[in-house]
Amino acid sequence: MSRHVGILTGGGDAPGLNAVIRAVVKYGVGQKGWLLTGVEDAFDGLIARPMRLRRLVPRACGGLLQRGGTILGTTNRGDPFAWKDGKNHAHDIRVELDRLGMEGLIVVGGDGTMRIADRLMREEGVPVIGVPKTIDNDLGATDQTFGFQSAVDCVTDALDRLHTTAESHDRCIVVEVMGRDAGFIAMHGGIAGGADVILIPEIPWDLGRLRAKLEQRRNIGRPFSLIVVSESAHPLGVADAKGGAGQLVVNALREAEPDLDIRLTVLGHLQRGGSPDAVDRVLATRFGCCAVDLACADRWGQMVALRDGHVIGVPLADAVRSNRIVDVAGELVATARAVGVELGG
Ligand code: F6P
Repeated sequence: MSRHVGILTGGGDAPGLNAVIRAVVKYGVGQKGWLLTGVEDAFDGLIARPMRLRRLVPRACGGLLQRGGTILGTTNRGDPFAWKDGKNHAHDIRVELDRLGMEGLIVVGGDGTMRIADRLMREEGVPVIGVPKTIDNDLGATDQTFGFQSAVDCVTDALDRLHTTAESHDRCIVVEVMGRDAGFIAMHGGIAGGADVILIPEIPWDLGRLRAKLEQRRNIGRPFSLIVVSESAHPLGVADAKGGAGQLVVNALREAEPDLDIRLTVLGHLQRGGSPDAVDRVLATRFGCCAVDLACADRWGQMVALRDGHVIGVPLADAVRSNRIVDVAGELVATARAVGVELGG
């Protein structure tokens, strides 16, 4: 009898989710003979009545590699342990999987979704394999997540565009980028796009340093500047900046320098939408294929991860324990400083 496996995507979307689904369909169904069921809207598809499930077959994979978002839909409000009806549906998932003859679930998601998957395995015995995704690239267990590179490309492209308009108008343009707890998108996008200042949560910023950088640029005949601000960056002495990290920088500079011509661009969900780039397509495909191999080897309870260039399985329980932030004493930060980027602190 063929193996019956489910796949779902949870949490915020990231470019490359469909490429993972495609790889699992092509390899799992096309080559291993699986029966593969797509569960819609994360775990909701197994909890809602009627359930939202669909059979995934190779001939339906056309155009998936380059398609953004996720054909299965997603949500970050679908925790089965505390579902939106106020009830705990974790056990129902186990019961439904048994009833459907589904051996296990491939769960593609960020840290929140991985924690749910880990709990389902430990508390309800639901066999799961995790595939990590987040544009933030802040999961400690993997050297890189798919979606990150495409987000960085988006920031780089935006900075290239903003550069010419900032230069033409002698303006300072502040660009707010995503990164809930970590400044990787800001650092990589900022370096790639030639930002003059990059502000990240790992390094609280000091207004004096920002002003000194703008002044230094004016003195060398560069009266325009690009400031990249991670959405979670904050000033020195203020742990939780309210009102938008980019707006805060604009307000502080405007107050200190009323004559400064300054504008704010918030890139927001542009960084998550659209096609995955080539790097993310390849990584997502490798992750999807590794998930199939792990399931075939009955290595449930593992999460796919990129380690030192190799895609391997690591224990899900370990993987959910650590998140990564930018190492302020590391090479990336030193490189930014070496090429004259002001990091604000
Ligand atoms: O974790 C990915 C991410 O895009 C963060 O960078 C951002 O803070 C958050 O999700 C935004 O979430 P939402 O789409 O729910 O607003």
